[in-house]
Amino acid sequence: MSTEHLANMRRNYTRDGLLEEAAPQDPRTLFEYWFNDAVATEQPPVEPNSMILATVDHGGQPHCRVVLLKGLDAQGFVFYTNYTSAKGRQLAEQPKAALTFFWPALERQIRIEGTVEKISAAESDAYYNMRPLGSRLGAWASDQSQPLASREVLEQTLAELEQRYATQAPPRPEHWGGYRMVPQRMEFWQGRTCRLHDRLNYQLQGDGAWSRERLAP
Ligand SMILES: Cc1cc2nc3c(=O)[nH]c(=O)nc-3n(C[C@H](O)[C@H](O)[C@H](O)COP(=O)(O)O)c2cc1C
Repeated sequence: MSTEHLANMRRNYTRDGLLEEAAPQDPRTLFEYWFNDAVATEQPPVEPNSMILATVDHGGQPHCRVVLLKGLDAQGFVFYTNYTSAKGRQLAEQPKAALTFFWPALERQIRIEGTVEKISAAESDAYYNMRPLGSRLGAWASDQSQPLASREVLEQTLAELEQRYATQAPPRPEHWGGYRMVPQRMEFWQGRTCRLHDRLNYQLQGDGAWSRERLAP
């Protein structure tokens, strides 16, 4: 899988919105609505490069969210985000993370644990500059993870940016770029009958080689 192929995997999300007036006060009610929708709706295949990224804050509270794998090389797994987002702040304090890939149609899961480092500015520039203009402006428009007064504020900011960059390409914002997760443990899970699944756990050794053991399902 080449980095270029991964970097170009991109879906446009057009299906629905989530506005305050339609959101119940109790988040558990909203969870129930969305869960019922999920059960009732035939799920399309997940984006194969989507992965759940877990980070930890200074109080030891884990946080997880979906991000997209945009590069893969001998050093590790690259994703892009806002460096001042909640996850960015957590990674600055505690540069460790876990990733989970889940491919339901294949009944497979991969869990990866390791350390996280920022990629070089040149690498981030290269990826930023190949994104569609809307995504590049979106990186400027969104102060990711900060409270937002309304959806209109975000759309207004984007409209202003579209004007500002009508004739020149936007540069990459300094607060936006890539991280590389360098794996130390990788566990491959293959679903099998009677819940007797296969789990192969790889652990990086001090000499750079990987040890491997089978874990009970
Ligand atoms: C399918 C999917 C793909 C996503 N890809 C990314 C991504 O590549 N980078 C990113 O910053 N957020 C991505 N998000 C949004 C994150 O899940 C999350 O909302 C955002 O990064 C803010 O997280 P934080 O507040 O913990 O920093 C994606 C969400 C979904 C559902």
